[in-house]
Parts: sequence; structure tokens; C-alpha cells
Amino acid sequence: MYTSVLSDDGQHVAISSADSTTRYHAIWLRDNAHDAETRSTHNGQRLIGLGDIPEQLSMSAVQVDDQAAHITFQPEDKTISYPIPWLLLHAYDQPAAGLHGRTANGIEPWGGELSAPRADFFDVQQNPESLRHWLANVARYGVGLLRNGPVEDQALMQVVDLFGYVRETNYGRHFEVRTEVNASNLAYTGLGLQAHTDNPYRDPVPTLQILYCLESSAAGGENMVVDGFRVAQRLRDENQEWFDVLSRYPAQFEYRGESGVCLRASHPMIELAANGELRAIHFNNRSATAFTDVPFDKMTTYYAAYRRMSELVDDASLEVSFLLQPGECFIVDNTRVLHARKAYSGTGKRWLQGCYADKDGLLSTLACLNAAA
Ligand code: FE2
Repeated sequence: MYTSVLSDDGQHVAISSADSTTRYHAIWLRDNAHDAETRSTHNGQRLIGLGDIPEQLSMSAVQVDDQAAHITFQPEDKTISYPIPWLLLHAYDQPAAGLHGRTANGIEPWGGELSAPRADFFDVQQNPESLRHWLANVARYGVGLLRNGPVEDQALMQVVDLFGYVRETNYGRHFEVRTEVNASNLAYTGLGLQAHTDNPYRDPVPTLQILYCLESSAAGGENMVVDGFRVAQRLRDENQEWFDVLSRYPAQFEYRGESGVCLRASHPMIELAANGELRAIHFNNRSATAFTDVPFDKMTTYYAAYRRMSELVDDASLEVSFLLQPGECFIVDNTRVLHARKAYSGTGKRWLQGCYADKDGLLSTLACLNAAA
């Protein structure tokens, strides 16, 4: 049983159930009408502009039943019905945005306790419900593993085909990560790398990365991942000023490692959305260049914050490690989860192939699978 109250000369309507009241504005409701003159019945796209809605808009009548609110707008004298579930799903009448650095709904920060979501390659390829479950975990945690895949050149493209499209770059559609470790070159090719996000010298950065193992006979060389959102929240909880300087001032990143390529971009190491939610992490010591957007008076604080963030990235209690076998791969949300390779302790070979892809395609596939479930 719902009731409604119009107020402020028909500018607001409050819709109440037994346990809650939610307010809506006339302009918001009219702009979001779903009648056939406002939205295409074929593709759902809006057919009118704001200029087609009278500026002196008001609501003159509201009737509410169990299914919908029927609202009459003036001066159009047009009545539009809004399903109650739609109104509740899109309610915006809530307290002002909370703490900066919080995560969006459905995003779960993690530390070393995470058991990285794993699935069987052929199961997710053949079973939409298994794919839906795995993609949902990738969206929630920013990381996922697949096992028992084919051990063949470019098998990683079959992983991308599960949800979207490759992002081609100057490194190609995919790139090779071959390591041969022996006593004479151990120091050069078997070194561990600090956890990082890839390619912060691009704008936009690749939002997903896949690394697929084709050969593994070297001891050590595990891959590890760290949740950058957890790192950012830890930093915020330790020192708000440090969080603020890393989210307010952009860092510069650059790559000129091959002829004909001069990539350069600026991103704050902790990127916030306009509503204060964590949007992305950009952390890559190797490609960071001189920081020129930090005010003189803030540079000392900035470097203290950067140092502490780097320590948190290296904190073993926040990392999750795994050793990929041939036919296994992992995917990371490159705007959130940092990845690294640990040092080798013996001799042998490792051969991985990597590629980039985009998260919007993954989220789109997941949303469609959810809608069909
Ligand atoms: Fe990398």
C-alpha cells in the first residue's frame, strides 16, 4: 500500500510505503518518463531533449496503486505511469555522499585472505551460468583465474571472446612474456617486479589485462595481485592528508621504449569519481616521470604519501599469489588490481602471453547474462 503527497507547488512528490518515504522532483520524473513519445520503444533511447520539457513544469496530480505512480504534468497536461519497482530502484533521496574513497556498490576490497575466484575454462565457455558466476566475481573482486584451458598459441583470445574485445596497442593484439632463467642471467631476467598497474602512460588506460601461461618449468616466478582499492583505503585510514594529495594531484607517466612511440598521460595515483567513490588506481614506479602538477608546498607531503602507498603495495599481508600452470590464466581489472611477478629461485623457462581488453564489454556481457538468468 503506497501513498503520495505533493508539495512545493507540485515540484516534489513523496511516495511512502509502510516503512519508508522517497521524494522525487518533477523535472527528474518528467525527464525519465518511459512513454512512447519520450523513449523509443525499440531501443530505449530518449527521443526528446530538455528543451522539449517546459521550464515551468509542475505536477498537478498523483495517483498511486500497488503497481505504479500515475503522475500528471502541467502545462503539458500529460499523465505518465512509473512502475513502483522502477522508482525504488532509481531512488536518489538518500543522505549526501559519505566518505571519500568508499567503493561503489558491488565492489568488495580484499587483502591476503582472498581466495581468488577460479573457474574451469571449458565450463565457462560452454555454460552461461558458470560464465555469469565467474564474470560476477571478476567484477566484484577485480581478479579471476581460469584453469584447464588449451595449451596453444593465442589461447588467450578465447578468454577475451568470452566477454568482449581485445584492446590493441603498440605492443600488438597480444604480447609475449618469455623468461629463460639460468645461472648467468638470473639477475637480469628472473628479478621480481613491484606490483603495478599496466600502461598508466595511456589515456584511457587498458581496463583489463589477461596473462595466459603456455609453459612453466622454472621454479618460482609466481604471479601476485594486490587490491589497489584496499591499499587506498588503508592509506586514507592511516593519514587522510596523504590520501588527499594522491587523489588530488595527477602524476605523470611516460613510455618511449621503442622507436615511433612517445606515450604520455597524467592520472592521480588514486583516482576518485565525482561522487567520491574510488574510480581507479594508477601505480607504476617504472613509468612514472617527473611530477609537475604537485604544488611546491605539497611536494614533501606528496612524496611521503607515495612512499607509504608503495610500502602498502609491498605489504605481504595484502597480496594473493598463485603459480600459473600451462593452460591457466588470470584476468585483472587494471584500473584497480595491481599485479606482479615474484623472483625466480631456480632455472628453467616460463612463457606467458598477455593482452588487454576493456571492462565495459565485460560488464555489458555480465549485465545481459544477469538479465537472462
Ligand atoms: Fe604488468
